[in-house]
Amino acid sequence: MIPFNKPFISGKELYYIADSVMKGSISGNGFYTKSCEVLLKKITLANKVLMTNSCTAALEMACMLINLEPGDEVIMPSYTFVSTANAVVLRGAVPVFCDIRDDTYNLDEAKIPMCISDKTKAIIPVHYAGQSCEMNSIMSIAHEHGLFVIEDAAQSVGAYQNGQHAGTIGDLGCFSFHETKNIMCGEGGALLINNPDFIKRAEIIREKGTNREAFFRKETDLYTWVDKGSSYLPSELQMAFLYAQLENLKLIIKRRRKALEYYQLHLKSLEDSGYIRLPKILSHNEVNYHLFALICRTNNERNQLIAYLSDRGVNSVFHYIPLHSSPEGKKISRIVEKSLPVTDKISECLLRIPVYYEITIEEQNYIISMIKEFFEAL
Ligand SMILES: Cc1ncc(COP(=O)(O)O)c(C=O)c1O
Repeated sequence: MIPFNKPFISGKELYYIADSVMKGSISGNGFYTKSCEVLLKKITLANKVLMTNSCTAALEMACMLINLEPGDEVIMPSYTFVSTANAVVLRGAVPVFCDIRDDTYNLDEAKIPMCISDKTKAIIPVHYAGQSCEMNSIMSIAHEHGLFVIEDAAQSVGAYQNGQHAGTIGDLGCFSFHETKNIMCGEGGALLINNPDFIKRAEIIREKGTNREAFFRKETDLYTWVDKGSSYLPSELQMAFLYAQLENLKLIIKRRRKALEYYQLHLKSLEDSGYIRLPKILSHNEVNYHLFALICRTNNERNQLIAYLSDRGVNSVFHYIPLHSSPEGKKISRIVEKSLPVTDKISECLLRIPVYYEITIEEQNYIISMIKEFFEAL
């Protein structure tokens, strides 16, 4: 069976974990947490990086930082993972789902203005597959209407737009280091703080609402409860593992690029024949080769292809079920248009095929030949 994903181990993970244990403290904010923050700041040029225990946690922190309140609205795509919406809903606010573009599957910037109401407080662009949303347009809409921008850059470590790292353009950006991502530590994340006004409070929110960080910097005599917060700090064990991966970011992206370009080249004939659509990368975006998604002509064909590949030992998957049509989404969100046709179409027809660091040419050739066989038999 060719798996859909295989976590990559760079080699030094266990060494760094052992080192963190030997250092005598494995709770949060020690040597490896700070080392990851320094390295990520160097890579991204963000104003401040705070490691978190997931992207979900970083999104929740971001929504607390902008003081999202019951009744506020936040514009986001419906075509995203639940965490984007959950962070908003947990503050009592309402996700307003906007349709996506047909070429990048990212928030359609032209449709954002019609979603704005007098309750809108923020926009959360989700950078799908490590390809950034149209941030120039989104930032100018946000400035015009006085809205915050939180970038859901869960999939975008190592991805850029016009030379700017994803997650560093909005007020706040959120990364994921979940096992399925290019760089991972099982569960993990980071909050990028670009707007300096948020730095002090973000440290407090991450530390359960206490001034622990300032206390350890000897900036205050008392270690006490000063604001709302939660437990968003990862342990040193996670960060030691992650550090070994982060050191190899360039190598990992280079290898994944080779795998994705191979698919692109060898599946081109199927696109030319009109059977599928391949990913499009806009010229001002530098992607991180996170995933390879093709679009089939119909939902039926996509489902048949998944079954065909599965019968032949290839694990392929689809995602996401649009949030506006999910049971919880129907209860607590709102859409401005009658429907989100591009979201529905992409969700019904998108198929992801295996990509991982160690995928071999033989495995890729096999997957490509099975996909071709499927369409030739139609
Ligand atoms: C777009 C998006 N946002 C948020 C998340 C949540 O990330 P995490 O699992 O690190 O909480 C994911 C995870 O896959 C994601 O794809």
